[in-house]
Amino acid sequence: MKIKFLDLGDQPIANRFLTTDNVTDEFFYNLSVGFDNDTKLVTHMEYVDPPLMFNENYVYRGSMSTTMQNHFKQFSSRFSPDLKILEIGSNDGVFIKNWNKSTAIAVEPCKNFAEETTALGYTTYNEFWTIELAEDIKEKHGQQNIIFAANCICHIPDLDNTFKAVSNLLTHDGVFIFEDPSLAEMINNGSYDQIYDEHPHIFSVIALDNILQRNGLEIVRVENLSVHGGSNRIYAKKIGTSEIDESVEQNKAYEKILGVDNIETFIRFAQKVKQSRDDLIRILFKCKEEGKKVISYGATSKSTTVFNYCGIDQSLIEYVSDTTPEKQNKLTPGSHIPVMFKDKIEDDVDYVYLGAWNFLNEIKEKESDFVKRGGKFITHVPIVKFD
Ligand code: TYD
Repeated sequence: MKIKFLDLGDQPIANRFLTTDNVTDEFFYNLSVGFDNDTKLVTHMEYVDPPLMFNENYVYRGSMSTTMQNHFKQFSSRFSPDLKILEIGSNDGVFIKNWNKSTAIAVEPCKNFAEETTALGYTTYNEFWTIELAEDIKEKHGQQNIIFAANCICHIPDLDNTFKAVSNLLTHDGVFIFEDPSLAEMINNGSYDQIYDEHPHIFSVIALDNILQRNGLEIVRVENLSVHGGSNRIYAKKIGTSEIDESVEQNKAYEKILGVDNIETFIRFAQKVKQSRDDLIRILFKCKEEGKKVISYGATSKSTTVFNYCGIDQSLIEYVSDTTPEKQNKLTPGSHIPVMFKDKIEDDVDYVYLGAWNFLNEIKEKESDFVKRGGKFITHVPIVKFD
């Protein structure tokens, strides 16, 4: 049974950036988060229908940061390129382009991105991941040694269907490897902005193992990653086919200390979220009173949650700078702040709110002139402060 612990108010589709002519018919839903007492899963009270988010107009590009490009390149180099691999949620090909075109298979529901990996030469299924699709792929291409997904499994409401499909398509000793933001890190960082329509679940290792096991899989290894504000890379195999690495128990023990299996932890988390909102609004109003120019860096899904939950609009943040062509010259969802691209932070900017706080190092490096002249970033992670 799900117990609600957090209400982030009315939220728009996090990646539906608006043109001036579709600004009036915006879709909003209530973003409330609950804790499932049976599986220990942190999950939305109600899910947004996936085609509303993932369609031919999807704008998030995984390859927009060198951090992520290097991350996938390094990881891929650990494996023999001859293995049969399938990626669920291949986006613009940032991961799969490190693999062999004749064997790697991409699955991507967003048509615009499916066309890109097809054009790169990869067999691409422009579909949502389901048991039926896995069955079809098994018939055409046989079972797979590796099924990989990055920042995708937490996007899928029906985890049982997802894991059954994976189990069916994996070879007997095949491995399912997936990475998603970590619930433990969200608690440590106070990063409530990991919660938005596309992230119906924020995973703990404990909850994932519960759900994987009822679908014939078990976690055999966990790697803690720094990307996306702290993620876990999970390795799961068919139950009983492999030894279990000590990292699994270590992560579960750590999560128990944090209390991720206990609703009280999330009630405390919700109180911290309210505090974070009050502190951020206070700081931004102070900047405004003092006549400072504040912009935001990175038109992220995360900042959709923050802007709409905190009621931040163009009166507090003048514009958002983002490198993604598909987001530029549009307005941020719900908050309607203009998005544009500035090669470097302009000289008259006093403060920069970090929508993409997870790329702080990459951004500080790029914007060394701003840092040198004493420019300050504003972040809410782990607490609201100037950085
Ligand atoms: P990300 O943090 O992955 O976003 P989300 O919350 O949607 O998962 O995305 C980072 C966004 O920031 C992406 O739109 C690209 C943009 N960006 C810049 O504009 N400049 C940069 O230097 C970097 C690293 C990212």
